[in-house]
Amino acid sequence: MNIAKRLALTALALPLLAPLPLLAQETDPESGFVIADGWQTVKANCTVCHSAKLVTQNSGSRNHWESLIRWMQDTQGLWQFRPEMEATILDYLAEHYGPKEHARRPPLARDLLPENPYKQEDQASG
Ligand code: HEC
Repeated sequence: MNIAKRLALTALALPLLAPLPLLAQETDPESGFVIADGWQTVKANCTVCHSAKLVTQNSGSRNHWESLIRWMQDTQGLWQFRPEMEATILDYLAEHYGPKEHARRPPLARDLLPENPYKQEDQASG
């Protein structure tokens, strides 16, 4: 293939490749953390005892993250944070590793559920 043809083909292919980096968030190649406000604080504090993967594979609300941090502080030797630093960490985690929106299907409607075999017919005797 001559150079001109090769360039023409590359030019054709470029628009197909261009949108990909826009979809993916920029991540730290070392830890995998999404690069955004507070990520370095999280990296510095949350990769000391275990892999960053343990953090990035988890997800949940701010409350979920807060209770995980309390659990590690109470039982795993995690140090206390100054309130501003803790807020930075929790904001970052809740924003970038928040509850997964499509991880669970919505509950089934009542009329789609099977009969409950344990249902008490007579509440008065229960
Ligand atoms: C002082 C050590 C220490 C530090 C620092 C630490 N952790 Fe942990 N963390 C642990 C231990 C120990 C476990 C349990 C590991 C295991 O089960 O193998 C754990 C487990 C976890 C888990 C998995 C919990 C689960 O449900 O399985 C997550 C998520 C986590 N840590 C997040 C964090 C975050 C976020 C930070 C930074 C704020 C952090 N960790 C800093 C000790 C630490």
